Amino acid sequence: MTQTKLAVDKLNLWFGDNHVLKDVSLSVPPNAVTAIMGPSGCGKSTLLRTINRMNDLILGTRVNGRIMMDGEDVLADSTDVIELRKRVGMVFQKPNPFPKSIYENIAFGPRIHHLGSPSEIAERVERTLIAANLWDEVKDRLHDNAFSLSGGQQQRLCMARCLSVEPEVILLDEPASALDPLSSARLEELIGQLKKNYTIIIVTHNMQQAARVSDWCAFLMLGELVEFDRTDRIFTKPRDKRTEDFLSGRFG
Ligand SMILES: Nc1ncnc2c1ncn2[C@@H]1O[C@H](COP(=O)(O)OP(=O)(O)OP(=O)(O)O)[C@@H](O)[C@H]1O
Ligand SMILES: [Mg+2]
Repeated sequence: MTQTKLAVDKLNLWFGDNHVLKDVSLSVPPNAVTAIMGPSGCGKSTLLRTINRMNDLILGTRVNGRIMMDGEDVLADSTDVIELRKRVGMVFQKPNPFPKSIYENIAFGPRIHHLGSPSEIAERVERTLIAANLWDEVKDRLHDNAFSLSGGQQQRLCMARCLSVEPEVILLDEPASALDPLSSARLEELIGQLKKNYTIIIVTHNMQQAARVSDWCAFLMLGELVEFDRTDRIFTKPRDKRTEDFLSGRFG
């Protein structure tokens, strides 16, 4: 039996009258990469954003069902959302560093979460930038503005910012779609390294990328989970005709 880090159980979500997620159930394993694929508008970002309660901010959102993380319901009223977002970090499609120095981008989270003295935070910044494969490129310019970095470097900085508070789960919403092929390859390599220590969920439009980086794959259509299985199985022997059609480019 495979272990489960996040158990999504009969999750439904509405934005006003729009029923966006329909009875979605899936078990996300720890220390693995789970990809979410599906046509535009099928609810991939919404599903990701429900896991760290980002949709709470959207007026008219209604949710039912459960998302259990290590036995606790993420969706419960009693969940401390700030603490949850520390445990479940997120990186978006477009790099969005803070308009601050490279150093401050990483030091900010650990500081507000009281993760050590100034010297411990300095060590953490270095450690995190090393983990994000960025240290060598920025070590001599830590106090430059983050916007002086290239797009691919900014995205690795955002990964580092996410890692700096020691999350357990990392949500990636098309993190490579704004990157050139080389930066994208470096990010994929990083994802491969990080899965040893984290649970990673990635939304990607790029099927080759899903095939390369993920261990498990979920296929969503019109808010329904059509299929969830090991990636090799999804790509070689999908059980559902809709998955097969999507993968062969018949729609999406
Ligand atoms: N903030 C919002 N308010 C109202 N409706 C929303 C909001 N965000 C998304 N939706 C709707 O929810 C549905 C799912 O959107 P979502 O962004 O999750 O799709 P997606 O699968 O991520 O698509 P894409 O591949 O284009 O990013 C769509 O019908 C969309 O219009
Ligand atoms: Mg999306």
